Amino acid sequence: MNKLLLLALCLSLVACNYPGMQQRLATGKDLSFQRSKGNCLACHVIEDGEDPGNIGPALVNIQEKYRSRQQLKDIIWDATQFNANA
Ligand code: HEC
Repeated sequence: MNKLLLLALCLSLVACNYPGMQQRLATGKDLSFQRSKGNCLACHVIEDGEDPGNIGPALVNIQEKYRSRQQLKDIIWDATQFNANA
């Protein structure tokens, strides 16, 4: 797990509201949109993203599904832990 991915994940966490977090969210979103970095848009619809792919589910209300940073990390790190066909 690298910092890039963790930053990208933060863009979906609505509760990230402490000082400085807005800048981190913007940075994470930018990274997730860059093809040479996170490239998450290749497979996911993400708010403000252009030309998203649809291989993965739209990344909306992620905080409702994954209540902790660890849960979020786990699903991204290895989705087969939760879905053998992932
Ligand atoms: C090659 C396509 C692909 C790329 C690139 C990709 N994902 Fe995914 N992602 C998927 C698929 C497919 C799933 C669904 C896995 C499953 O069956 O549970 C998924 C699931 C997720 C989920 C869980 C969504 C939910 O509703 O449960 C999150 C969060 C996620 N991805 C974040 C990311 C982030 C952040 C990036 C970029 C760093 C990224 N993904 C890049 C294909 C991709």
